Amino acid sequence: MTSTTPATNSATSPQSAEDTFDVRPSSHPRTAEERAEVLSDLGFGVAFTDHMARATWTSDAGWHDRRIEAYAPLQLDPAAAVLHYAQEIFEGLKAYAHADGSVWAFRPEANARRFARSARRLALPELPEEDFLASIRALVHTDVEWVPTSSGASMYLRPFMFASEAFLGVRPAKRVEYLVIASPVGPYFTRGFTPVSIWVSEEYHRAGPGGTGEAKCGGNYAASLLPQQEAYAHGCDQVCFLDSSTNTLLEELGGMNLFVVGADGVVSTPRLSGTILEGVTRSSILELLGEQGHEVRERDIPLAEVLDGVASGAVTEVFACGTAAVVTPVGRLASARFDVSVADGAAGAVTTAIHTALTDVQFGVQEDTHGWMQRLV
Ligand code: COI
Repeated sequence: MTSTTPATNSATSPQSAEDTFDVRPSSHPRTAEERAEVLSDLGFGVAFTDHMARATWTSDAGWHDRRIEAYAPLQLDPAAAVLHYAQEIFEGLKAYAHADGSVWAFRPEANARRFARSARRLALPELPEEDFLASIRALVHTDVEWVPTSSGASMYLRPFMFASEAFLGVRPAKRVEYLVIASPVGPYFTRGFTPVSIWVSEEYHRAGPGGTGEAKCGGNYAASLLPQQEAYAHGCDQVCFLDSSTNTLLEELGGMNLFVVGADGVVSTPRLSGTILEGVTRSSILELLGEQGHEVRERDIPLAEVLDGVASGAVTEVFACGTAAVVTPVGRLASARFDVSVADGAAGAVTTAIHTALTDVQFGVQEDTHGWMQRLV
């Protein structure tokens, strides 16, 4: 009989070396021609490789059955807890092909650590960091032919974990699945490195104090979809949320962090207040900006200050960042109360320089002085 007591979720992995991901090759991989056709026309998150990484957790056995298997639809019991109570988390990171044929991941251990933090908040079992890294390595190894080599393209990796136990009681699930799927991608925004417009939602919030805002869980993204639709309806590309306590401070976009550049060279980003996702790209940019000679501040940023700064010229650039979006200039801010252009609406010098600095490290054009890149193949 299924118990109603909470799973402890504390079982540790009985084995955790990278060779524990047993490769079970697909019986129906796509042909080289089929792959080439997909790789010749890349969007974001629409095409997937031939395999996926997978492991299962049960409260009795801990993590087990680590494997690479054919990419395929999942079989899920209609009572699976994730479908009812959204006990789910995910990550996003990329693998980059370098000119010498090697393939590298950008700070994957940072994603592994955030995945563990998200797991704790969603009462899911923590996946050991070495298993996270081993799953990425094993999948990219298996599907290395799918890593795009065209300019600016990469392999987006999407690790995720969800409650698969068939049980309708509200408690942490005793059976959980971990998977990684891989998608060869071009730019997140179809227009590439061109300014986007932002709708500032003054009606809806993404997260509140003590909630799940700093965890990377599907529910946060679900909460952003209606305001995102509102953004589209007003001709904007993305939605920006304000803090739920005062409705005055910038927080983040639906899936990206935000930076504001001052005419004095100071670059600010909302501080990690507990309701904002701690972006890996965000923290890397903070370091790179410091090295480029900027004063960087993580602080409360009132929307009113940004609007005044845009009007007076004290704010010269705004940009968004994330693994998927990389660095994306923001050219316009709008809401029911205002509609303003940031400077001349074009990508600014600071935004352009930080985009170049970051992508040069990721694609191996510049030396990785931080030890951020991990070789996968
Ligand atoms: C990422 O940047 O990896 C994300 O998870 C955000 C999502 C909008 C794609």
